[in-house]
Amino acid sequence: MQASDTEQQIRAYLEYFRDLGVHDFYRRDVVWDGPDAALAEMRVEAVDVVEVAEVAVAAPVVRAELEPMVAAPALVVVAESLSLKPVSFDNLAPLPTVRVEPEAREAALRVVQEEIGDCTRCPLAYGGRHAIVFGDGSPGARLMFVGEGPGADEDASGLPFVGKAGQLLNNMIGAMGLRREDVYIANIVKCRPPANRVPEPVEAGTCSQFLVRQIDIVQPEIIVALGATAATYLLGVKQSLASLRGLWFGVRGAKVAVTYHPASLLRDPRQKGEAWKDLQRVMVEMGLKGPARG
Ligand code: URA
Repeated sequence: MQASDTEQQIRAYLEYFRDLGVHDFYRRDVVWDGPDAALAEMRVEAVDVVEVAEVAVAAPVVRAELEPMVAAPALVVVAESLSLKPVSFDNLAPLPTVRVEPEAREAALRVVQEEIGDCTRCPLAYGGRHAIVFGDGSPGARLMFVGEGPGADEDASGLPFVGKAGQLLNNMIGAMGLRREDVYIANIVKCRPPANRVPEPVEAGTCSQFLVRQIDIVQPEIIVALGATAATYLLGVKQSLASLRGLWFGVRGAKVAVTYHPASLLRDPRQKGEAWKDLQRVMVEMGLKGPARG
């Protein structure tokens, strides 16, 4: 995909601010109730970038350079295309008309990974990232887990869910009678958010295009959304975990179940029984009997 002049210009500005040591442009809460409000918020954020830069480097020249861009309607167009409001994965891209055959899936995933390259499409590229965490597991998996975003261990290793939360996820997968290499594991964003904060809508919106393609290639029967962030972006709804658990949703031809994020189970182990109920529903749906005994 060829980046438009406006996108290239904005990327150049992002790099410019990164070089000034200003990384985190999108920290403010985003208004979720309607595209107009979200776009207005984005405009405010863009103006804030000027102010942040002024504080950071006390350079009025920055304002002179940026002001025309901030005022330009083109910025709103970019904001619109990044869609700050969560959009269900079904509505992000047309459903594929051609099925990727099992033997072609590994190569197809590699093509997506190569397209991501040394990505600088969103601010997470400039937040101290070491590795882009693409995904892990079987390209032909019947079951996919989707988490939020890499943490420090994942950023260091380039693999999803390898830290403490990953060990718990491995145990959960084992309790279902599966091995980690039987399933596919990915995240809503592929780069570690600074200080493990929740990904901003603009970051999730930018990265989702690649997770959509991973799902379309792997074609899992079931996706388990781990935690509220995964559920929000996969389903395109911002609702409490409690209201989403216990239901089945449909996303890109897969059935989606929502459960607790393993990191939240580490913080509050009392919820492990509830998470196990969610996984048992998945096992029934997949005809899994759990680990062989004796
Ligand atoms: N938490 C996530 O959401 N994903 C990871 O890969 C690791 C921790």
